[in-house]
Amino acid sequence: MTTKRLYLPDEDATIALAAQLAPMLCGVHPAFGHEQRGGRIHLHGDLGAGKTSFARALLRASGITGKIKSPSYALIESYNLSNLDFYHLDFYRFSDSREWADAGFRDILDENAVVLIEWPEQAGALLPPPDLDIYLEYADHGRHASLTAHSNKGKLWLTTLALPPQESP
Ligand SMILES: Nc1ncnc2c1ncn2[C@@H]1O[C@H](COP(=O)(O)OP(=O)(O)O)[C@@H](O)[C@H]1O
Ligand SMILES: [Mg+2]
Repeated sequence: MTTKRLYLPDEDATIALAAQLAPMLCGVHPAFGHEQRGGRIHLHGDLGAGKTSFARALLRASGITGKIKSPSYALIESYNLSNLDFYHLDFYRFSDSREWADAGFRDILDENAVVLIEWPEQAGALLPPPDLDIYLEYADHGRHASLTAHSNKGKLWLTTLALPPQESP
């Protein structure tokens, strides 16, 4: 397990972090070939911590155009670009694990897709560990971010990230 911490002073910093990860997940980064594309990120943090901001920025930086809705009502929003599936989920309102089975959510975890999940803790043990956990915490006017990798792919993402200098409040 590898963890990196950084301070995101404003939303632009959150967007910049997502924009660095996007090419790695899309397989267009020099260090990540087409066959390595896809991956799962779990987003943790209180309401307003920036989970949706991060997910939206990652989708945007991946080339998705048009409206990117928060999946807080529909549970899931999906996109496809260059033959790659993107799933943005939000389990805030998730209460019944049958919803999970009924909606066939399980299948998307086996796909070579980009999967971003807000409030993964609401799904309890239904979710396997992601490649990367991102914890966002209010800190002064910005956010502390803690990134923990659980797979070799996630570790490679973290070592490839060019992190800005730390200027925590
Ligand atoms: N690093 C940051 N520092 C300060 N504000 C941020 C940062 N990242 C995002 N925000 C702001 O915080 C709010 C996050 O909202 P949202 O992304 O919907 O949160 P969540 O999905 O975690 O509930 C937005 O108003 C956004 O502009
Ligand atoms: Mg949200």
